[in-house]
Amino acid sequence: MDIEVKNKIEALRHELHQHNYNYYVLSQPTISDFEFDRKLKELQDLELQYPELYDPSSPTQRVGSDISKEFKQVKHKYSMLSLGNTYSEGEVADFYQRARKFINADEIELVCELKYDGTSISLTYENGELVQAVTRGDGEKGDDVTANVKTIRSIPLKLQGNDFPTRFEIRGEVLMPWAVFDELNKEREEQEESLFANPRNAASGTLKLQNSSEVSKRKLDSYLYYLLGEDLPAETHYDNLQKAKSWGFKISDAIKVCHSLDEVFEFIAYWNKERKNLPVATDGIVLKVNSLRQQRNLGFTAKSPRWAIAYKFQAEQACTRLNSVSFQVGRTGAVTPVANLDPVQLSGTTVKRASLHNADIIEGLDLHIGDMVFVEKGGEIIPKIVGVDTEARFMLGDKVQFIKNCPECDTPLVRVEGEAAHYCPNEDGCPPQIKGKIEHFVSRKAMNINAGEETIELLYNKGYIKNIADLYSLRWEDLLMLDRWAQKSAQNLVQSIEESKQVPFERVLFALGIRYVGETVAKKLVSALHNINAIEAASYTELVQVDEIGDRIACSIVDYFAKEENRILVNRLKEIGLQFKIDEHSLSKTSEKLNGISIVISGTFEKHSRDELKNRMEQHGGKNVATVSSKTTYLLAGENIGPSKLEKAQKLGIKIISEDEFLQLIQ
Ligand code: IVH
Repeated sequence: MDIEVKNKIEALRHELHQHNYNYYVLSQPTISDFEFDRKLKELQDLELQYPELYDPSSPTQRVGSDISKEFKQVKHKYSMLSLGNTYSEGEVADFYQRARKFINADEIELVCELKYDGTSISLTYENGELVQAVTRGDGEKGDDVTANVKTIRSIPLKLQGNDFPTRFEIRGEVLMPWAVFDELNKEREEQEESLFANPRNAASGTLKLQNSSEVSKRKLDSYLYYLLGEDLPAETHYDNLQKAKSWGFKISDAIKVCHSLDEVFEFIAYWNKERKNLPVATDGIVLKVNSLRQQRNLGFTAKSPRWAIAYKFQAEQACTRLNSVSFQVGRTGAVTPVANLDPVQLSGTTVKRASLHNADIIEGLDLHIGDMVFVEKGGEIIPKIVGVDTEARFMLGDKVQFIKNCPECDTPLVRVEGEAAHYCPNEDGCPPQIKGKIEHFVSRKAMNINAGEETIELLYNKGYIKNIADLYSLRWEDLLMLDRWAQKSAQNLVQSIEESKQVPFERVLFALGIRYVGETVAKKLVSALHNINAIEAASYTELVQVDEIGDRIACSIVDYFAKEENRILVNRLKEIGLQFKIDEHSLSKTSEKLNGISIVISGTFEKHSRDELKNRMEQHGGKNVATVSSKTTYLLAGENIGPSKLEKAQKLGIKIISEDEFLQLIQ
């Protein structure tokens, strides 16, 4: 091995670790994103070329992989306890006095920190490298989510300096910043996926994803707040955290050693306001006895340490009158009850409406029109009604009932077994659902047609379009008849509709708005089945064999094509000239290394799914064939390979290769 290559790889790794740290921990990047990506790509290429120089802590590990893994359960070396909670300053004072008395000291130091509202994680480092990341689980054992955690850029894979213990654990919170959370929910809404209620659920849901390359895209962040181990560098909690900071961990600056209760209350008052300007969610303050010796003296109860307590921020509440409840029908047909309130100030905004979520919540609150209700803005962005002031009820209004029929099209609503939501089943006749389908069809990631919500609304209301295919019959002369439409905007729209005929098949498939067929699923379907006829004809059993397609998605696809009106619609779109088959060029663009080679795949594989292997084969000019014959070049054999294929290949003297050998062929 060329020593220069080895040095180059090491230098790049070192440099990229530093840039990661500058960007994600210090928020002070010193190079452009473009430069960073270029260097990362250079390192990735070198690592591919020299697999013997593999390093589990390389910055290239941050992008994750598409290998799905069940999480291994791991027992925590030190149990992961929770904290005692309090909502009152009086109880904070009690905690302080109790601790002081127990330790028999006039004064003790308390460290005040923010209580981050994410999902907790325990990280183990050995010789300065991250070796394991485990979720809290039940406190005794959790899930090994190391591969996912490695994608979190603010968590160091390799530590800086040299004064860290050989082995230690550090605990903290994995968080999804508000901005990332909002963006993610927006995308999920576009793809008809259920929304995350708050960043905490989004963070823990993300950590449990099977595919770490998906996790990598979700831009999680972290704060670490608790060091554990046999030979920690300092005798106080605060100093240990500052040491950890010097090793590269993201340690909050919102931390203070307090010497009196007054200082503690000052910290609470300051952050109770200031926390609203933070990029991540917090739900309180944590107070910890600073001295580790005193911590050891105080010890633990069965559930929590006696040396720490959490003071939870009061979620801001307001009390106002409920005037009416309206029911909104979304694009998917889901019916959401919304409370209309007397306007009231809450956390700096005027609140007039609040979500009531579903029928069970309304029933649980025993809501009546005219009630004085408590509205709260917790971790959720949409305010919600959390209670009724029954004392203030001097006249009982009508009890709020969930509606039976769709407010838009009068179709009786249905409620799916086991689900809280009510749906309007009239997919093709209910105006918001039709408009929603068209809006989805034209959206940027689908057909990218230049028409906003208002335009669709107008065209629909004027009777110009009743479904997505009608868009293609629009003439700019007709559009000019509409109010305020100038020739230029009319021509732009018609041109953009015309251009959409070139949009590749996977986006057309996504645009159709088949329930649960998001962007990724559409891509998988296209690369496995190649054209719309095959997808339409595919049975449930064939569909579930496609990578990432499970029961729910397969059923939805079969249901979609079982409906005659959908088949007619797709046929119309075909006649119009939309792309309904895979772009052949996209299949064979990477290289010609496998030209003239035909390969049979059998069994299951460790690193890639069969569909992915097939794609790679085709991208390099190879041919994937179903049965072994004398013309077959290789049998790509995985685990549980079909015995007849194996036997036939052996008989015909066909070379049998493993997944790794295949990957080498195309490297
Ligand atoms: S210390 C033994 N510090 O709150 C106690 N926890 O209810 C170790 N949390 O599970 C926890 N911010 O997920 C600590 N600055 C902070 C925290 C914090 C958030 C979470 C953590 C823990 C829960 C306790």
